[in-house]
Amino acid sequence: MPRLAIFASGNGSNAQRIAEYFEGHPSVSIRLILSNNPAAFVLKRAAALGIPSEVFSRNTFYDTGRIPALLRENGIDFIILAGFLWLIPPGILAAFPGRIINIHPALLPKYGGKGMYGMRVHEAVIAAGEPESGITIHHVDECYDEGKIIFQARCPVSPADTPETLAEKIHQLEYRYFAEVVEKIVTSDE
Ligand code: GAR
Repeated sequence: MPRLAIFASGNGSNAQRIAEYFEGHPSVSIRLILSNNPAAFVLKRAAALGIPSEVFSRNTFYDTGRIPALLRENGIDFIILAGFLWLIPPGILAAFPGRIINIHPALLPKYGGKGMYGMRVHEAVIAAGEPESGITIHHVDECYDEGKIIFQARCPVSPADTPETLAEKIHQLEYRYFAEVVEKIVTSDE
């Protein structure tokens, strides 16, 4: 019966989709939504969804055992990063080997790495004249966006696209695939 925690830094539309997808699921449940950003809209979504949430500071995340303890107390089996912008510290990586999954809004290995998130990714893809972009769902390791790729889906980039219209195409791919791919992974070793 996999129990999931979602980490998110901002709006949280993917977190919400995932939470809704697993509502009433026979085995998978979303137990926690955690954020580094006290102003993140995802916290309002968590409250509306009735999912417990907690905000942590940089110091708590990197220099204390608070988050691993919270994950342990809640029996968390997998961590899902849905628009979460900080590197995962070694203590959490070690406690969840192969059990931390991220989504990135481009076709890795291109357009990843530190500072490549959200709209910046779409701006870079358009500036480079790429004919296509997409989403990458991947395992998380100690580097930004370098873990083993699990799944990719693609969409065309047209000359008329702006970062905003491309972001919308990418979000549609994320909403279509992320929860389903997470489900496959977390139920594959039940
Ligand atoms: C998503 O597009 C996600 O792929 C991206 O942030 C957005 C969050 O949207 N993640 C990254 O850029 C990670 N490097 P949301 O808060 O509405 O789910």
